[in-house]
Amino acid sequence: MSQEHQQTIETVADLIHGANSVVVFTGAGISTESGIPDFRSAGGLWERYDPEEFTYQKFMSSENSRKLMWQLAKEFAPVLENAEPNPAHQAVVRLEEMNKLVCIITQNVDYLHQKAGNSESKVVELHGTMRYIRCLSCGQRYTAQEIQAVLEDGVEIPECHHCAGILKHEAIAFGEAMPAQAMLKAEHASKNCDVFIVIGSSLVVYPAASMPVVAKRSGASLIIVNREPTDLDSFADYIIRGSAGEAMDAILKSVEQRMDRA
Ligand code: APR
Repeated sequence: MSQEHQQTIETVADLIHGANSVVVFTGAGISTESGIPDFRSAGGLWERYDPEEFTYQKFMSSENSRKLMWQLAKEFAPVLENAEPNPAHQAVVRLEEMNKLVCIITQNVDYLHQKAGNSESKVVELHGTMRYIRCLSCGQRYTAQEIQAVLEDGVEIPECHHCAGILKHEAIAFGEAMPAQAMLKAEHASKNCDVFIVIGSSLVVYPAASMPVVAKRSGASLIIVNREPTDLDSFADYIIRGSAGEAMDAILKSVEQRMDRA
């Protein structure tokens, strides 16, 4: 670790140690060390699949699009099911245990923050979740596991068992309305925190990527932990370039040392 990198870790640890309200904002990059591919890194999901095929309009209007979506979901389900939280997720749990964490605004649909031990009420899922599936006609909710069993029985496009309606994951597709409650909670938290930490996001998808800007404009210190440059690096007070797991573990260790000395 370079001298400059270590110095930034220490400075960020000082900020968090002195903070009362920390918001963590996560993207797919926090979960790659858990074995879940991100979208825009080399080899990411959007290199292997065309995101244009997964818009809400296509899903609703074309049976073929629904077939493609369920095929991807069937392949992806075991990866999600077997993924374990990594040191970056565990560092965020330690922030909650210190009573410093206002909430986690996550773009991820992998429910790894909840698996790691963060309270459900602290996790704001801006892009929904792959954990549940809902009937778009009668609203009946299913778990991913229930429908995975149907897919593994050979059904290509599962239908609602109650009304034969269209089933869709509760993950927000491109062009689908954002969850209003989650957006309100994320905006309020971003406006009222003193430290806002981005972990593992390219910050190119809106309205999610507006949250770091809202926080910065509201007076928060903005920290970006990311392996590659992001679209908002010029806004950040501190940038930590590298592995989310290593960086977040190092930061929390430094905060805990300060707390022991206090
Ligand atoms: N440590 C730190 N950063 C990492 C790591 C890691 N181990 N692995 C990947 N990254 C970084 C990548 O360099 C990249 O900049 O995480 C970022 C992930 O960016 P994206 O793949 O664009 O993911 P994300 O920002 O979450 O995408 C936002 O786009 O397709 C939609 O709905 C989807 O929620 C997603 C949204």
